[in-house]
Amino acid sequence: MAIAYRSIFRPDLFAGQTIIVTGGGTGIGRAVAHELASLGAHVVLAARTAENLERVETEIEEAGGAASHFVCNIREEEQVSALFDFVLAERKVIHGLVNNAGGQFISPAEMISLKGWRAVVETNLTGTFLMCREAFNRCMNEQGGAIVNMLIEMWRGFPGMAHSAAARAGIENLTKTLAVEWARAGVRVNAVAPGLISSSGLERYPEAVRPMIAQNIRDIPMKRMGTEAEVSAAIVFLLSPAAAFISGESIKIDGAGSLWRKTWEVPEHGNAPAGYEGFGAE
Ligand code: ADE
Repeated sequence: MAIAYRSIFRPDLFAGQTIIVTGGGTGIGRAVAHELASLGAHVVLAARTAENLERVETEIEEAGGAASHFVCNIREEEQVSALFDFVLAERKVIHGLVNNAGGQFISPAEMISLKGWRAVVETNLTGTFLMCREAFNRCMNEQGGAIVNMLIEMWRGFPGMAHSAAARAGIENLTKTLAVEWARAGVRVNAVAPGLISSSGLERYPEAVRPMIAQNIRDIPMKRMGTEAEVSAAIVFLLSPAAAFISGESIKIDGAGSLWRKTWEVPEHGNAPAGYEGFGAE
């Protein structure tokens, strides 16, 4: 049976538009792709694994939507360039870009190798930059457009994911810079910052992390995880004309978790540096 996506937005909202969704083969990216296609967009799915992309493309087509796909590692400049060759040859114009692709692994900072650090920063920060730059230079500088980048909720740091939080903080700042630089071309650049979301990405974390997730839920005022659809809806809003005056902004989708958090246990340790006193006896 075909998968029907029940968006709250108007069915023809993106009719005639072409929107690229990176990481569109799984999780939040798959949900965004389905929602945009259900609203009339032709969705171009881009990620590294052909199998996932083919599956989602078929799902979308069976649901009556339009999609195509291109296998691409967003860390590689030539592959990003080839993705835009493909999309522009097929579709002529690109109206929207969702930079959803990314990833990380959980590790205390002191155990992250240089290779692991580079991989996470290159995928998330450099990959997002390459996609934004190519979208602008190849189309949006002439035609305008809307870009939505993917953050994690990292405003208080992110113990256990130092590499990803640093990269996402970079993306948040990049989002602001591009919003100003590209406003003259009618390009809006925004971001979403999911907190703890029940998605296929979460399932990839090791078993040892499960108790941490249960603790994280207790630290969310809403006392539950978010859904992929709740992230997708924010992305779709930011792509839509309803957000025409919003650029350089980041929306948290976190059940107020960022406002109330103690997710990383700090044991009693007695290792705080001795208190500093300016005045003392001679
Ligand atoms: N999803 C996760 N990492 C990716 C990458 N480097 N390129 C494309 N999609 C990805």
